[in-house]
Amino acid sequence: MDSTLAHTDLNDPSKTKTVLFYNDVITGLKSTPKRLNSKYFYDANGDKLFQELMNSPEYYPTDCELEIFSEKTAEIADALIADGDAFDLIELGAGDATKSTYLLKYLLEKKADFTYLPIDISENVIAYLNMTLPVTLPGLQITGLNGEYFHMLTKAASISSRRKVVLFLGSNIGNMPINDAIEFCRELRKHLSPGDMALIGMDLKKDPKVVLAAYNDKEGITKRFNLNLLERINRELNSNFDVSKFEHYPTYDPETGACKSYLISTADQRVTINGKETIAFLKDEYIYMEISQKFTIMQADQIAINTGFVPVGQFFDTKKWFIDAIWVAA
Ligand SMILES: C[S@@+](CC[C@H](N)C(=O)[O-])C[C@H]1O[C@@H](n2cnc3c(N)ncnc32)[C@H](O)[C@@H]1O
Repeated sequence: MDSTLAHTDLNDPSKTKTVLFYNDVITGLKSTPKRLNSKYFYDANGDKLFQELMNSPEYYPTDCELEIFSEKTAEIADALIADGDAFDLIELGAGDATKSTYLLKYLLEKKADFTYLPIDISENVIAYLNMTLPVTLPGLQITGLNGEYFHMLTKAASISSRRKVVLFLGSNIGNMPINDAIEFCRELRKHLSPGDMALIGMDLKKDPKVVLAAYNDKEGITKRFNLNLLERINRELNSNFDVSKFEHYPTYDPETGACKSYLISTADQRVTINGKETIAFLKDEYIYMEISQKFTIMQADQIAINTGFVPVGQFFDTKKWFIDAIWVAA
């Protein structure tokens, strides 16, 4: 039996993260129905799998948003620069920052006075951005912040009181049910001052077959991405998931726009987490892994208006499959 966690020093930051992970996993797997929080997808392996997924032919959201950022860089940047005051460009869940790099490059060329503050829960992502961006974008002022969205947004505000422009791309906002997304935007608004801006990427409702294929790619990357979370639990929490006994099952409901991923247990089985807690699975029982909500354009505006923002700009890809909306804090 591993007793690492029982003796964890909660003042040790790396152990605190492990304890939080452990508590969330146990709470989720003891719930009915069982669930895991998709924010834990992103360890170093998960980051790599997500990059593979972004390059897969079926995963259209990245291509759509890349098109917007590469084709409409100047319009987006000019809207964010506004009247030219110095600002902090804060990116929530930055990932590899491929799309924002277009914007950063243009802002540097325009000699805009800004600091880039990428926030990500993945340590690996922040280390990568801190190391690579100053090389690829000479002159960039960057301070990477590793942690949860709002903890790090509070930290960003403690570092600087300049005008804030918050990027939240990749339809990360869709990784929460709509009511939680509304709450999230309300909370975001509380962290901002009137005149601050947000640029929110949202995946739009479209042909259900196109949506479902993106979460069920032929190469099985999404499947490996989901199973990686069980493997992460094995690696970091001394557990014994047999990943060959779980199947990836994505669904899309065109009515609600909810695209959900599940892992289905293919046998009656028991899994021991950290040598302490045993979780029983029945054959065909599922773990709810992730939601990737799809929106209508009207819903995007409504969310802004209902949470204290004024929608002031909309950018679309040519297929109109994705929107990057600019909101100003009222
Ligand atoms: C779907 S990826 C998108 C990355 C990037 N925004 C893009 O559009 O390509 C989500 C990113 O958000 C980060 N993330 C997820 N939940 C988070 C949270 N609660 N706090 C901070 N970062 C989070 C993940 O580590 C990951 O890098």
